[in-house]
Amino acid sequence: MERKYPNLSKPIQIGNVYFRNRMFGAPMGGTDITADCTIGPKTTAFYELRAKGGVANVTVSELVVHPKTEASHMYHLDLQTVNSLASFTYTADAIRRHGAIASVELSHSGQYAGTYLVDKDKKEGMAQWGPSAGLRPDGREVKELTKELIQEIVEAYGEKAALAKKAGFEMVMIHGGHGWLINQFLSPFFNKRTDEYGGPLENRVRFAIEVLESVRKAVGPGFPIEFRMSGSELFEGGYTLEDGVEIAKLIEDKIDLLHVSAGTYQKGFGVTHPSMFLEHGPNVYLVAEIKKHVKVPVATIGALNDPEKMEEIIASGKADIVEMARALLADPELPRKVMTNNDHLIVKCMRCFTCMAERAVTGTRRCTVNPMIGRESDGLEIIPAANKKKVLVVGAGPGGLQAAYTAARRGHDVVLCDSNDEVGGILIGEKAIPFKYSMYELGVSLGRLAKEAGVDIRLNTTVDKAYAQNENADVIIVAAGSKALVPPIPGLDGANVIQATAYHHNQDQVKDSVIVLGGGLSGTELAVHLANEGKAVKLVEMGSELAPDANIRHRPLLLDEVNKKGVEVFTDHKGLQVNDNGIVCLDKEGNEVVLEGRTVICALGQVARRDIVDELIDEAPIVKTVGDCAKVATITTAIYQGHHAALDI
Ligand SMILES: Cc1cc2nc3c(=O)[nH]c(=O)nc-3n(C[C@H](O)[C@H](O)[C@H](O)COP(=O)(O)O)c2cc1C
Repeated sequence: MERKYPNLSKPIQIGNVYFRNRMFGAPMGGTDITADCTIGPKTTAFYELRAKGGVANVTVSELVVHPKTEASHMYHLDLQTVNSLASFTYTADAIRRHGAIASVELSHSGQYAGTYLVDKDKKEGMAQWGPSAGLRPDGREVKELTKELIQEIVEAYGEKAALAKKAGFEMVMIHGGHGWLINQFLSPFFNKRTDEYGGPLENRVRFAIEVLESVRKAVGPGFPIEFRMSGSELFEGGYTLEDGVEIAKLIEDKIDLLHVSAGTYQKGFGVTHPSMFLEHGPNVYLVAEIKKHVKVPVATIGALNDPEKMEEIIASGKADIVEMARALLADPELPRKVMTNNDHLIVKCMRCFTCMAERAVTGTRRCTVNPMIGRESDGLEIIPAANKKKVLVVGAGPGGLQAAYTAARRGHDVVLCDSNDEVGGILIGEKAIPFKYSMYELGVSLGRLAKEAGVDIRLNTTVDKAYAQNENADVIIVAAGSKALVPPIPGLDGANVIQATAYHHNQDQVKDSVIVLGGGLSGTELAVHLANEGKAVKLVEMGSELAPDANIRHRPLLLDEVNKKGVEVFTDHKGLQVNDNGIVCLDKEGNEVVLEGRTVICALGQVARRDIVDELIDEAPIVKTVGDCAKVATITTAIYQGHHAALDI
């Protein structure tokens, strides 16, 4: 068979282990880590899902090596607690039985211990240890690690690596990047020591080298050790790419794979986990430079999900391996689809950060585009339905597409209708906003998957009572979405006003000075886009905050864009009237304020399309509603509801 992506599909030997391809699974912690530090069944299933999808390895994470001086998350894994070894062994098995290599990441968060604890009481009870004493930005005191503690930690890395090997892991990843302890030692910003662990780079690398030697002693020769580093810290005062090259040269003979990431969690979250505001693969340049100076195989990471781009990275010699985190949440089968030339069926990550935000807020994992995430242990198989039914899905937005796709995979006879001339529903409009293009692509991919699964997709087709009666379906799934909320503000029907959801039809009419009325998530994103287009943008919001509906990871990055792109923000401004010159608002003090702008974009929210639900509610024995027409919510909700509506038939 001629593989479309021969480089990505090619096996590679690292140490004495063979990996089935060049697509590696970067660490992503699960969620049900138990109070006694073991891996719960949900998390085992979370890792297993990716192993099944064909990735070369799966890296289990959030194992802290030295709990005495560390605790980075709500709970962490600790191989030395009772039962922990068994849970690790089951997890390694779950990965290995699908032909993936089980790897485990050993980490220590150093001075940032406890920063991300959901249980803040626990955080207050902790001490923080770093290479040097100081104060953290949140006011917590950091203590300098003594040499005795350093030696304990170094030994702990070896002990934990040996236990991981005993549990059946065939590889370890040492986390030396992203601002955690080893990175703190490498960094001139964090490391102010005057002993042999501080000062010149050779000294700052000493801790990493001792850790790697301790691990090698524990696991023996040939056992692959992957070292994750940030190619550059990417902030003022941190180490640079030139330093990154030197670090790589100093450690390369201690490791089998050098994994080059970027930046730090704390000071560059949106670069370490490249946000939608960056291009895909924005950090590849770091690995490409480092590779020129080392012989050890190198891996790259960061917003990679396009097989063509990943193939090119390997083919052109920039890296030997590509690693993915979010892309494999979005579509765990991405590697299999690449290897079987089915890349057109990949569902791509939109970089919406639901995955990381949910973890921080509720301690759970979700993925907007993959309804399996968070319920992997409930069973992943799509079980064929006992009785084939005729299913009519109304609306080809994300919820309807997902419902149709899942129902067809269960063997039902599915018709999907939409009044538009393409699938995607509310996602169609995102094609006009480059940094949200992946959202548009989601509709396209789900449409392809639905079609492949046998769904009869009927575009330009409005479903009314008569149409539904004629179809005579056993089940109707109404996924009719929402329509723009247009409050009775005088002038909102003017020729200079465009609805945000219709922006893609009218973008040529937008003049150089624009007022976006409504600073929720979509209005704020649109304002950033218009500013990117070179328009002078005023963003007007009645509430006191912008984008309160954005998740906690995306929101700071979005607000940063608002700032950087020069969008003028008017919070606490209520729109009273729109006229040809702009809008009249009422500010917090009750003053009338006139804001000038030649185009007004109305982004005041959405209302459920209950009219369609009401019309169809009795047109089949079972009528289900999913997504915005049930209640205006998120794409995540629409996709999860669509999937489960189809499972419930
Ligand atoms: C949900 C989630 C959990 C993560 N957990 C870890 C972790 O436990 N350890 C780690 O080193 N990196 C972790 N990361 C960072 C990823 O390994 C990766 O470096 C980053 O997401 C950039 O890759 P991507 O663009 O392919 O997602 C996590 C990322 C995500 C999205």
